[in-house]
Amino acid sequence: MRTGIPGVFSVGDYRAEARRRLPRMVFDYLEGGADDESGLRHNRDAFDRWELQPRRLRDVSRRDQSIELLGKRLPSPLVIAPTGLNGAFWPQGDLALARAAAKAGIPFALSTASNMSIEEVAKGADGDLWFQLYVVHRNLAKSLVSRARTANYSTLILTTDVAVNGFRERDLRNGFAMPFKPSLRAALDGLSHPRWLWSYLTNGMPQLKNFATDDASDTESQAAVLRRQMDASFSWDDLRRLRDAWPGKLLVKGIVTPEDTKLCLEAGADGVIVSNHGGRQLADLPASMDVLAAIADSAGAATVVVDSGVRRGADVVKAIASGARAVMLGRATLYGLAANGEVGVADVIRMIKDEVDRTLALIGCEAIEKLDRGFVARRAGWSTSTF
Ligand SMILES: Cc1cc2nc3c(=O)[nH]c(=O)nc-3n(C[C@H](O)[C@H](O)[C@H](O)COP(=O)(O)O)c2cc1C
Repeated sequence: MRTGIPGVFSVGDYRAEARRRLPRMVFDYLEGGADDESGLRHNRDAFDRWELQPRRLRDVSRRDQSIELLGKRLPSPLVIAPTGLNGAFWPQGDLALARAAAKAGIPFALSTASNMSIEEVAKGADGDLWFQLYVVHRNLAKSLVSRARTANYSTLILTTDVAVNGFRERDLRNGFAMPFKPSLRAALDGLSHPRWLWSYLTNGMPQLKNFATDDASDTESQAAVLRRQMDASFSWDDLRRLRDAWPGKLLVKGIVTPEDTKLCLEAGADGVIVSNHGGRQLADLPASMDVLAAIADSAGAATVVVDSGVRRGADVVKAIASGARAVMLGRATLYGLAANGEVGVADVIRMIKDEVDRTLALIGCEAIEKLDRGFVARRAGWSTSTF
């Protein structure tokens, strides 16, 4: 049964709804990519280059898409990816995502750049919570990690692909920044999206709450936050120190080569997240799907999660067949959030689960854990030069 908006049947439909509800500059922040945005196209093309190879006359009357991820059984191979400024899409957007994830039994990753604090989200949602770390300043990073530990977050994600901020030209053109800078253009944009404007006016401007409440707010750390720049000197020795400081599971995000995968595992990480940040950092990175199999081979028994460009259940199936253990949803669940809050997020998760289930039935695979590379093949006519 559908709980969302009538006539909305796919993530693409939710994208159209999100576009209608959000002011142009907020939708552009959600959607935009770095540089000429070719990374967005490459991410989708990479999924489309693969087709599914069905097996016939197998008993698929019962299907199972549950998986084991980092020692826990999940009903679906899905995780909600960390995204900053969720409060710009829906009031208390972080909580809406976390609650929808908890109800679906999948993990939610809270971004360092969230609009609700580590503690607020832990208090308001009871599912499996992960925390994503940006190292803006080392003192601050230490404090955030210890807060996530105290608040019982199970898994820490270190994001490694933001040594400097990506050049997102839509945001620059729109003057999109935190805090929002008032301008005539922004005012007209808001006024022409009254549903969004009303919730924005009644709930106030979203804040970067993790920094507002952080007890390590010495002047140096505050200056680093104000510069909105990462500590670009963070390297492998620092990852080893982070490993020592964090007792839970540790995943390294933004990895696109087998070489770096091995270094992450040598440094003590439990796994990697193959990701090009949804094309938001550098347009000319490999698409995750193109490097996934090689990375999975280099990771051995370690955990490989993948994101960037996932919009359909069939994408999830292709990624798992190529060696990923789970898939992170970025924009897909944000479209649901922007269109209809927690209900929209839950609906997107349900749609993708239904698509995974239908795809498994139609390719003759009764359990997602039985997928292997025999279920995917390069589409005829596409170049096979990438591996
Ligand atoms: C609006 C937005 C904000 C994001 N903020 C963060 C962030 O704060 N930290 C992070 O590690 N990744 C961030 N990401 C990247 C996502 O975690 C994920 O890698 C990406 O969205 C996957 O691509 P997809 O959106 O095509 O699924 C952000 C992505 C979007 C769309």
